[in-house]
Amino acid sequence: MHKTVFLETFGCQMNVVDSERIIALLAEIGYRQVDQAELADLVLLNTCSVRDKAERKVYGHLGRFKPIKDARPDLIIGVGGCVAQQEGERMLEQVPYLDLVFGTHNVHRLPELVQQAEKKAGRGSETDFLDRETRLNLFPQRSVTDSITRFVTVMQGCDNFCSYCIVPYVRGREISRPSDEIITEIRGLVAQGVREVTLLGQNVNSYGLKEDGEISFAELLRRVDAIDGLERLRFATSHPKDMSDELIDCFGALRTLCHHIHLPVQCGSNRILAAMNRGYLREDYLAKVDRLYRVCPQIRLTTDIIVGFPGETEEDFADTLDLVEQVGYADAFTFLYSPRTGTAAAKLKDDLDPAVRQQRFDRLLAVQQKKSEEIWNRDLDCELTVLVEGESKQGDGQLFGRTTWNRIVNFAGPTDLIGQMAQVRITRVFRNSHLGELVS
Ligand code: SAH
Ligand code: SF4
Ligand code: F3S
Repeated sequence: MHKTVFLETFGCQMNVVDSERIIALLAEIGYRQVDQAELADLVLLNTCSVRDKAERKVYGHLGRFKPIKDARPDLIIGVGGCVAQQEGERMLEQVPYLDLVFGTHNVHRLPELVQQAEKKAGRGSETDFLDRETRLNLFPQRSVTDSITRFVTVMQGCDNFCSYCIVPYVRGREISRPSDEIITEIRGLVAQGVREVTLLGQNVNSYGLKEDGEISFAELLRRVDAIDGLERLRFATSHPKDMSDELIDCFGALRTLCHHIHLPVQCGSNRILAAMNRGYLREDYLAKVDRLYRVCPQIRLTTDIIVGFPGETEEDFADTLDLVEQVGYADAFTFLYSPRTGTAAAKLKDDLDPAVRQQRFDRLLAVQQKKSEEIWNRDLDCELTVLVEGESKQGDGQLFGRTTWNRIVNFAGPTDLIGQMAQVRITRVFRNSHLGELVS
Protein backbone atom coordinates (compact mmCIF):
# COMPACT_ATOMS: atom_id res chain seq x y z
CA MET A 1 0.00 0.00 0.00
CA HIS A 2 1.25 3.43 -0.97
CA LYS A 3 1.33 6.24 1.52
CA THR A 4 0.19 9.63 0.28
CA VAL A 5 1.56 13.16 0.45
CA PHE A 6 -0.19 16.47 -0.15
CA LEU A 7 2.27 19.28 -0.90
CA GLU A 8 1.50 22.96 -1.33
CA THR A 9 4.15 25.31 -2.73
CA PHE A 10 4.38 29.08 -2.21
CA GLY A 11 6.94 31.65 -3.31
CA CYS A 12 9.39 31.67 -6.17
CA GLN A 13 10.71 29.18 -8.71
CA MET A 14 13.36 28.03 -6.23
CA ASN A 15 10.57 26.56 -4.19
CA VAL A 16 8.96 25.00 -7.26
CA VAL A 17 12.24 23.19 -7.98
CA ASP A 18 12.64 22.17 -4.33
CA SER A 19 9.11 20.82 -4.35
CA GLU A 20 9.88 18.58 -7.33
CA ARG A 21 12.83 17.27 -5.38
CA ILE A 22 10.66 16.71 -2.29
CA ILE A 23 8.22 14.60 -4.29
CA ALA A 24 11.07 12.56 -5.81
CA LEU A 25 12.70 11.94 -2.40
CA LEU A 26 9.42 10.95 -0.78
CA ALA A 27 8.66 8.54 -3.64
CA GLU A 28 11.77 6.63 -2.56
CA ILE A 29 10.18 5.97 0.84
CA GLY A 30 6.82 4.99 -0.60
CA TYR A 31 4.84 8.24 -0.87
CA ARG A 32 2.62 9.09 -3.82
CA GLN A 33 1.36 12.64 -4.39
CA VAL A 34 -2.36 13.43 -3.99
CA ASP A 35 -4.18 16.71 -4.57
CA GLN A 36 -6.26 16.92 -1.37
CA ALA A 37 -5.06 17.22 2.21
CA GLU A 38 -8.06 15.15 3.31
CA LEU A 39 -6.67 12.13 1.42
CA ALA A 40 -3.08 12.44 2.63
CA ASP A 41 -0.98 10.65 5.25
CA LEU A 42 1.54 13.48 5.07
CA VAL A 43 0.82 17.18 4.52
CA LEU A 44 3.68 19.55 3.63
CA LEU A 45 3.89 23.29 3.03
CA ASN A 46 6.87 24.69 1.11
CA THR A 47 6.85 28.31 2.27
CA CYS A 48 7.93 31.85 1.35
CA SER A 49 8.80 34.70 3.71
CA VAL A 50 9.61 37.45 1.22
CA ARG A 51 6.70 39.61 2.42
CA ASP A 52 4.65 39.60 5.59
CA LYS A 53 1.54 38.51 3.70
CA ALA A 54 3.30 35.41 2.36
CA GLU A 55 4.44 34.51 5.84
CA ARG A 56 1.04 34.94 7.46
CA LYS A 57 -0.48 32.72 4.80
CA VAL A 58 1.54 29.81 6.18
CA TYR A 59 -0.06 30.02 9.60
CA GLY A 60 -3.48 30.39 7.95
CA HIS A 61 -2.93 27.22 5.95
CA LEU A 62 -1.66 25.26 8.93
CA GLY A 63 -4.88 26.18 10.71
CA ARG A 64 -6.83 24.50 7.92
CA PHE A 65 -5.04 21.21 8.58
CA LYS A 66 -5.77 21.15 12.32
CA PRO A 67 -9.30 19.70 12.10
CA ILE A 68 -7.98 16.99 9.74
CA LYS A 69 -5.33 16.08 12.28
CA ASP A 70 -7.90 16.15 15.12
CA ALA A 71 -9.94 13.57 13.21
CA ARG A 72 -6.87 11.54 12.14
CA PRO A 73 -4.08 11.88 14.72
CA ASP A 74 -1.69 9.79 12.56
CA LEU A 75 -1.56 12.55 9.97
CA ILE A 76 1.97 13.98 9.72
CA ILE A 77 2.26 17.74 9.11
CA GLY A 78 5.50 19.42 8.02
CA VAL A 79 6.75 22.84 6.95
CA GLY A 80 9.75 23.56 4.70
CA GLY A 81 11.14 26.49 2.74
CA CYS A 82 11.95 30.03 3.76
CA VAL A 83 9.58 30.50 6.71
CA ALA A 84 10.79 27.18 8.11
CA GLN A 85 14.39 28.35 7.65
CA GLN A 86 13.68 31.57 9.48
CA GLU A 87 11.55 30.22 12.33
CA GLY A 88 13.08 26.77 12.87
CA GLU A 89 12.10 25.13 16.15
CA ARG A 90 10.03 28.15 17.14
CA MET A 91 7.44 26.87 14.69
CA LEU A 92 7.17 23.60 16.61
CA GLU A 93 6.57 25.58 19.78
CA GLN A 94 3.97 27.83 18.19
CA VAL A 95 2.08 25.13 16.32
CA PRO A 96 1.60 22.16 18.68
CA TYR A 97 0.18 19.87 15.97
CA LEU A 98 3.17 20.41 13.66
CA ASP A 99 5.47 17.35 13.38
CA LEU A 100 8.48 18.52 11.41
CA VAL A 101 10.31 21.57 10.10
CA PHE A 102 13.02 21.52 7.41
CA GLY A 103 15.04 24.46 6.12
CA THR A 104 16.17 25.48 2.65
CA HIS A 105 19.45 23.53 2.88
CA ASN A 106 17.85 20.43 4.39
CA VAL A 107 15.46 19.07 1.78
CA HIS A 108 17.62 15.93 1.58
CA ARG A 109 16.93 15.23 5.28
CA LEU A 110 13.17 15.16 4.79
CA PRO A 111 12.82 11.36 4.33
CA GLU A 112 14.55 10.80 7.68
CA LEU A 113 12.36 13.37 9.42
CA VAL A 114 9.24 11.78 7.96
CA GLN A 115 10.31 8.28 9.00
CA GLN A 116 11.01 9.55 12.48
CA ALA A 117 7.49 11.03 12.61
CA GLU A 118 5.99 7.77 11.27
CA LYS A 119 7.57 5.92 14.20
CA LYS A 120 6.32 8.64 16.56
CA ALA A 121 9.95 9.05 17.60
CA GLY A 122 9.59 12.73 18.30
CA ARG A 123 9.09 15.99 16.43
CA GLY A 124 12.04 17.12 14.30
CA SER A 125 13.55 20.35 13.07
CA GLU A 126 16.52 20.62 10.67
CA THR A 127 17.48 24.13 9.63
CA ASP A 128 21.29 24.19 9.71
CA PHE A 129 23.01 25.90 6.80
CA LEU A 130 25.47 23.59 5.04
CA ASP A 131 28.97 24.30 3.77
CA ARG A 132 29.74 24.88 0.10
CA GLU A 133 31.05 21.41 -0.69
CA THR A 134 28.04 19.65 0.78
CA ARG A 135 25.63 21.98 -1.02
CA LEU A 136 27.39 21.52 -4.35
CA ASN A 137 27.11 17.76 -3.93
CA LEU A 138 23.41 18.06 -3.13
CA PHE A 139 22.46 20.04 -6.22
CA PRO A 140 19.46 18.35 -7.80
CA GLN A 141 20.72 15.96 -10.46
CA ARG A 142 19.09 15.16 -13.77
CA SER A 143 15.78 13.53 -13.10
CA VAL A 144 13.43 11.64 -15.36
CA THR A 145 10.92 13.96 -16.97
CA ASP A 146 8.16 13.99 -19.55
CA SER A 147 8.00 17.78 -19.63
CA ILE A 148 8.69 20.03 -22.58
CA THR A 149 10.07 22.84 -20.41
CA ARG A 150 12.33 22.54 -17.43
CA PHE A 151 14.02 24.70 -14.78
CA VAL A 152 17.72 24.01 -14.27
CA THR A 153 19.20 25.53 -11.13
CA VAL A 154 22.67 26.92 -11.88
CA MET A 155 23.30 28.89 -8.72
CA GLN A 156 21.76 29.20 -5.29
CA GLY A 157 21.70 31.79 -2.57
CA CYS A 158 22.26 35.53 -2.67
CA ASP A 159 25.06 37.74 -1.39
CA ASN A 160 23.54 41.07 -2.44
CA PHE A 161 21.79 41.99 0.79
CA CYS A 162 19.38 44.49 -0.70
CA SER A 163 18.36 46.30 2.45
CA TYR A 164 14.69 45.24 2.35
CA CYS A 165 15.21 41.59 1.46
CA ILE A 166 15.06 38.44 3.58
CA VAL A 167 16.34 36.09 0.86
CA PRO A 168 20.08 36.22 1.74
CA TYR A 169 19.17 35.23 5.30
CA VAL A 170 16.92 32.31 4.37
CA ARG A 171 18.80 30.94 1.34
CA GLY A 172 22.36 31.49 2.50
CA ARG A 173 25.49 32.34 0.54
CA GLU A 174 25.85 32.26 -3.21
CA ILE A 175 27.22 29.11 -4.83
CA SER A 176 27.45 28.24 -8.54
CA ARG A 177 27.36 24.76 -9.95
CA PRO A 178 30.20 23.58 -12.21
CA SER A 179 29.35 24.47 -15.83
CA ASP A 180 30.23 21.03 -17.21
CA GLU A 181 27.69 19.47 -14.85
CA ILE A 182 25.02 21.92 -16.04
CA ILE A 183 25.73 21.16 -19.69
CA THR A 184 25.59 17.41 -19.03
CA GLU A 185 22.27 17.77 -17.24
CA ILE A 186 20.73 19.83 -20.06
CA ARG A 187 21.97 17.39 -22.72
CA GLY A 188 20.27 14.62 -20.75
CA LEU A 189 17.03 16.60 -20.49
CA VAL A 190 17.00 17.35 -24.21
CA ALA A 191 17.53 13.64 -24.94
CA GLN A 192 14.34 13.00 -22.93
CA GLY A 193 12.33 15.47 -25.02
CA VAL A 194 12.80 18.75 -23.14
CA ARG A 195 12.74 21.62 -25.67
CA GLU A 196 13.11 24.66 -23.41
CA VAL A 197 15.22 25.23 -20.32
CA THR A 198 15.17 28.13 -17.90
CA LEU A 199 18.45 28.58 -16.06
CA LEU A 200 17.52 29.44 -12.54
CA GLY A 201 19.15 31.29 -9.68
CA GLN A 202 18.30 33.89 -7.09
CA ASN A 203 20.70 36.17 -8.88
CA VAL A 204 21.36 34.10 -11.94
CA ASN A 205 23.62 36.47 -13.87
CA SER A 206 26.23 36.57 -11.11
CA TYR A 207 26.77 32.92 -12.06
CA GLY A 208 30.38 31.81 -11.67
CA LEU A 209 31.71 35.12 -10.38
CA LYS A 210 32.65 33.63 -7.02
CA GLU A 211 34.14 30.38 -8.30
CA ASP A 212 37.79 30.16 -9.30
CA GLY A 213 38.24 29.56 -13.02
CA GLU A 214 34.52 29.22 -13.81
CA ILE A 215 33.19 30.54 -17.13
CA SER A 216 31.03 33.68 -17.32
CA PHE A 217 27.25 33.50 -17.42
CA ALA A 218 27.30 34.72 -21.03
CA GLU A 219 29.68 31.88 -21.95
CA LEU A 220 27.40 29.42 -20.15
CA LEU A 221 24.49 30.68 -22.29
CA ARG A 222 26.55 30.23 -25.46
CA ARG A 223 27.41 26.64 -24.50
CA VAL A 224 23.80 25.80 -23.69
CA ASP A 225 22.66 27.45 -26.93
CA ALA A 226 24.95 25.10 -28.86
CA ILE A 227 23.19 21.96 -27.55
CA ASP A 228 21.54 20.15 -30.45
CA GLY A 229 17.80 19.72 -30.10
CA LEU A 230 17.28 22.54 -27.63
CA GLU A 231 14.78 25.06 -29.02
CA ARG A 232 14.57 27.70 -26.34
CA LEU A 233 16.60 29.15 -23.52
CA ARG A 234 15.52 31.53 -20.75
CA PHE A 235 17.04 32.62 -17.45
CA ALA A 236 15.74 34.16 -14.21
CA THR A 237 16.18 36.26 -12.17
CA SER A 238 18.77 38.79 -13.28
CA HIS A 239 20.26 41.58 -11.22
CA PRO A 240 20.81 44.81 -13.21
CA LYS A 241 24.29 45.37 -11.74
CA ASP A 242 25.46 42.02 -13.21
CA MET A 243 23.98 42.63 -16.68
CA SER A 244 27.30 42.77 -18.55
CA ASP A 245 27.54 43.98 -22.15
CA GLU A 246 28.71 40.48 -23.04
CA LEU A 247 25.48 39.09 -21.58
CA ILE A 248 23.24 41.70 -23.20
CA ASP A 249 24.81 40.99 -26.58
CA CYS A 250 23.71 37.34 -26.32
CA PHE A 251 20.15 38.54 -27.04
CA GLY A 252 21.25 39.56 -30.52
CA ALA A 253 23.36 36.49 -31.16
CA LEU A 254 21.98 33.26 -29.73
CA ARG A 255 19.58 31.06 -31.70
CA THR A 256 17.66 29.75 -28.69
CA LEU A 257 17.62 32.74 -26.34
CA CYS A 258 14.05 34.04 -25.99
CA HIS A 259 13.31 37.73 -26.51
CA HIS A 260 12.25 38.38 -22.95
CA ILE A 261 14.08 39.38 -19.81
CA HIS A 262 12.83 39.85 -16.28
CA LEU A 263 15.01 42.65 -14.94
CA PRO A 264 13.81 43.88 -11.53
CA VAL A 265 14.44 47.60 -11.13
CA GLN A 266 12.73 48.00 -7.72
CA CYS A 267 12.66 51.79 -7.92
CA GLY A 268 13.46 54.72 -10.23
CA SER A 269 14.96 57.12 -7.68
CA ASN A 270 18.72 57.14 -7.16
CA ARG A 271 18.31 58.16 -3.53
CA ILE A 272 16.06 55.18 -2.79
CA LEU A 273 18.12 52.78 -4.94
CA ALA A 274 21.10 53.67 -2.73
CA ALA A 275 19.04 53.14 0.44
CA MET A 276 17.97 49.79 -0.99
CA ASN A 277 21.64 48.88 -1.56
CA ARG A 278 20.92 47.91 -5.15
CA GLY A 279 24.35 48.86 -6.51
CA TYR A 280 23.23 50.81 -9.63
CA LEU A 281 21.86 54.19 -10.60
CA ARG A 282 18.73 54.70 -12.69
CA GLU A 283 21.03 55.96 -15.47
CA ASP A 284 22.96 52.65 -15.40
CA TYR A 285 19.74 50.70 -15.60
CA LEU A 286 18.37 52.79 -18.46
CA ALA A 287 21.65 52.45 -20.39
CA LYS A 288 21.41 48.66 -20.11
CA VAL A 289 17.80 48.70 -21.28
CA ASP A 290 18.86 50.87 -24.17
CA ARG A 291 21.52 48.37 -25.21
CA LEU A 292 19.03 45.50 -24.88
CA TYR A 293 16.62 47.27 -27.27
CA ARG A 294 19.49 48.01 -29.65
CA VAL A 295 20.80 44.44 -29.89
CA CYS A 296 17.28 42.96 -29.91
CA PRO A 297 14.62 45.51 -30.94
CA GLN A 298 11.75 43.04 -30.41
CA ILE A 299 12.73 42.21 -26.80
CA ARG A 300 10.07 42.67 -24.08
CA LEU A 301 10.98 43.43 -20.50
CA THR A 302 9.27 42.67 -17.23
CA THR A 303 10.22 43.92 -13.78
CA ASP A 304 9.60 44.01 -10.04
CA ILE A 305 8.93 47.28 -8.23
CA ILE A 306 8.62 48.05 -4.52
CA VAL A 307 6.40 50.99 -3.63
CA GLY A 308 6.71 52.89 -0.35
CA PHE A 309 10.23 52.06 0.78
CA PRO A 310 10.95 53.95 4.05
CA GLY A 311 11.50 57.64 3.30
CA GLU A 312 10.13 57.51 -0.26
CA THR A 313 8.97 61.01 -1.19
CA GLU A 314 6.52 62.07 -3.88
CA GLU A 315 9.54 63.09 -5.94
CA ASP A 316 11.16 59.65 -5.56
CA PHE A 317 7.93 58.04 -6.61
CA ALA A 318 7.65 60.35 -9.63
CA ASP A 319 11.11 59.08 -10.67
CA THR A 320 9.77 55.53 -10.56
CA LEU A 321 6.75 56.44 -12.70
CA ASP A 322 9.06 58.21 -15.13
CA LEU A 323 11.38 55.22 -15.42
CA VAL A 324 8.44 52.89 -15.99
CA GLU A 325 7.24 55.14 -18.82
CA GLN A 326 10.72 55.27 -20.35
CA VAL A 327 11.32 51.52 -20.32
CA GLY A 328 7.83 50.46 -21.39
CA TYR A 329 7.60 47.16 -19.51
CA ALA A 330 5.32 44.46 -20.87
CA ASP A 331 4.47 43.55 -17.26
CA ALA A 332 5.53 44.71 -13.83
CA PHE A 333 5.08 42.92 -10.52
CA THR A 334 4.45 45.66 -8.01
CA PHE A 335 4.70 45.22 -4.25
CA LEU A 336 3.98 47.37 -1.24
CA TYR A 337 7.11 47.56 0.89
CA SER A 338 6.91 45.03 3.72
CA PRO A 339 9.41 45.32 6.59
CA ARG A 340 11.25 42.03 7.23
CA THR A 341 12.71 41.43 10.68
CA GLY A 342 16.51 41.21 10.63
CA THR A 343 16.99 43.22 7.41
CA ALA A 344 18.73 46.61 7.37
CA ALA A 345 15.65 48.47 6.11
CA ALA A 346 13.55 47.20 9.00
CA LYS A 347 15.60 49.48 11.25
CA LEU A 348 14.92 52.62 9.17
CA LYS A 349 12.48 55.25 10.30
CA ASP A 350 9.29 54.60 8.37
CA ASP A 351 6.73 57.37 8.70
CA LEU A 352 5.05 57.10 5.33
CA ASP A 353 1.26 57.30 5.66
CA PRO A 354 -0.16 53.87 4.68
CA ALA A 355 -2.89 55.62 2.68
CA VAL A 356 -0.28 57.51 0.64
CA ARG A 357 1.66 54.31 0.09
CA GLN A 358 -1.48 52.59 -1.18
CA GLN A 359 -2.35 55.54 -3.46
CA ARG A 360 1.11 55.40 -5.04
CA PHE A 361 0.72 51.68 -5.53
CA ASP A 362 -2.63 52.22 -7.28
CA ARG A 363 -1.22 54.99 -9.49
CA LEU A 364 1.69 52.82 -10.58
CA LEU A 365 -0.62 49.91 -11.26
CA ALA A 366 -2.86 52.08 -13.45
CA VAL A 367 0.10 53.35 -15.50
CA GLN A 368 1.49 49.85 -15.92
CA GLN A 369 -1.84 48.26 -16.80
CA LYS A 370 -2.33 50.71 -19.61
CA LYS A 371 1.14 49.95 -20.96
CA SER A 372 0.70 46.18 -20.62
CA GLU A 373 -2.58 46.35 -22.53
CA GLU A 374 -0.97 48.39 -25.27
CA ILE A 375 1.97 46.00 -25.64
CA TRP A 376 0.02 42.74 -25.49
CA ASN A 377 -2.62 44.08 -27.87
CA ARG A 378 0.08 44.50 -30.51
CA ASP A 379 -0.05 40.70 -30.85
CA LEU A 380 -3.68 40.72 -32.00
CA ASP A 381 -4.08 39.20 -35.51
CA CYS A 382 -0.34 38.42 -35.61
CA GLU A 383 0.98 34.98 -36.42
CA LEU A 384 3.32 34.00 -33.58
CA THR A 385 5.56 31.01 -33.00
CA VAL A 386 4.51 29.05 -29.94
CA LEU A 387 6.30 26.16 -28.27
CA VAL A 388 3.43 23.79 -27.47
CA GLU A 389 3.78 22.59 -23.88
CA GLY A 390 0.69 20.52 -23.26
CA GLU A 391 -3.06 20.39 -22.92
CA SER A 392 -4.62 23.55 -21.57
CA LYS A 393 -5.64 23.53 -17.91
CA GLN A 394 -9.12 24.72 -18.87
CA GLY A 395 -9.83 21.23 -20.23
CA ASP A 396 -12.02 21.62 -23.35
CA GLY A 397 -9.41 19.92 -25.55
CA GLN A 398 -7.31 23.06 -26.01
CA LEU A 399 -3.53 23.12 -26.11
CA PHE A 400 -1.30 25.74 -24.57
CA GLY A 401 2.15 27.05 -25.29
CA ARG A 402 4.22 30.20 -24.95
CA THR A 403 5.52 32.85 -27.26
CA THR A 404 9.13 34.00 -27.13
CA TRP A 405 7.86 36.72 -24.76
CA ASN A 406 6.75 34.05 -22.28
CA ARG A 407 3.10 34.82 -22.95
CA ILE A 408 0.68 31.88 -22.63
CA VAL A 409 -1.40 31.14 -25.72
CA ASN A 410 -4.37 28.75 -25.63
CA PHE A 411 -5.60 27.30 -28.93
CA ALA A 412 -7.33 24.24 -30.36
CA GLY A 413 -5.08 21.66 -31.99
CA PRO A 414 -4.03 17.98 -32.10
CA THR A 415 -2.05 16.66 -29.12
CA ASP A 416 0.78 15.42 -31.37
CA LEU A 417 1.81 19.09 -31.59
CA ILE A 418 2.99 18.92 -27.97
CA GLY A 419 6.74 19.54 -27.94
CA GLN A 420 6.63 21.20 -31.38
CA MET A 421 6.86 24.79 -32.54
CA ALA A 422 3.49 25.87 -33.94
CA GLN A 423 2.32 28.97 -35.80
CA VAL A 424 -0.69 30.48 -34.06
CA ARG A 425 -2.74 33.53 -35.02
CA ILE A 426 -3.74 35.57 -31.96
CA THR A 427 -7.51 36.16 -31.89
CA ARG A 428 -8.07 37.53 -28.39
CA VAL A 429 -5.92 39.22 -25.76
CA PHE A 430 -6.75 38.74 -22.08
CA ARG A 431 -5.04 40.17 -19.00
CA ASN A 432 -2.63 37.23 -18.58
CA SER A 433 -2.90 35.12 -21.72
CA HIS A 434 -3.77 35.05 -25.39
CA LEU A 435 -6.31 33.00 -27.28
CA GLY A 436 -5.34 31.92 -30.78
CA GLU A 437 -6.00 29.60 -33.69
CA LEU A 438 -3.59 27.24 -35.33
CA VAL A 439 -2.32 28.34 -38.74
CA SER A 440 -2.00 25.19 -40.79
N1 SAH B 1 16.33 37.77 -6.62
C1 SAH B 1 15.34 38.49 -7.24
C2 SAH B 1 13.97 38.52 -6.56
C3 SAH B 1 13.79 38.15 -5.16
S1 SAH B 1 12.27 38.39 -4.35
C4 SAH B 1 15.85 39.91 -7.45
O1 SAH B 1 16.87 40.28 -6.98
O2 SAH B 1 15.20 40.66 -8.11
C5 SAH B 1 11.10 38.91 -5.56
C6 SAH B 1 10.66 40.33 -5.42
O3 SAH B 1 10.02 40.55 -4.19
C7 SAH B 1 11.78 41.35 -5.44
O4 SAH B 1 12.22 41.63 -6.73
C8 SAH B 1 11.15 42.53 -4.77
O5 SAH B 1 10.51 43.36 -5.70
C9 SAH B 1 10.10 41.92 -3.87
N2 SAH B 1 10.47 42.07 -2.45
C10 SAH B 1 11.53 41.54 -1.82
N3 SAH B 1 11.54 41.92 -0.53
C11 SAH B 1 10.46 42.72 -0.34
C12 SAH B 1 9.93 43.44 0.78
N4 SAH B 1 10.54 43.42 1.95
N5 SAH B 1 8.80 44.16 0.60
C13 SAH B 1 8.18 44.19 -0.60
N6 SAH B 1 8.63 43.53 -1.68
C14 SAH B 1 9.76 42.80 -1.57
FE1 SF4 C 1 16.82 39.87 -2.46
FE2 SF4 C 1 18.37 41.65 -3.62
FE3 SF4 C 1 19.17 39.12 -3.44
FE4 SF4 C 1 17.18 39.76 -5.07
S1 SF4 C 1 19.30 40.44 -5.24
S2 SF4 C 1 17.23 38.04 -3.65
S3 SF4 C 1 16.15 41.38 -3.97
S4 SF4 C 1 18.85 40.52 -1.75
FE1 F3S D 1 10.12 33.47 -1.13
FE2 F3S D 1 12.19 32.12 -0.36
FE3 F3S D 1 11.74 32.48 -2.92
S1 F3S D 1 11.45 33.95 0.58
S2 F3S D 1 10.72 34.46 -2.98
S3 F3S D 1 10.47 31.34 -1.53
S4 F3S D 1 13.71 32.40 -1.91
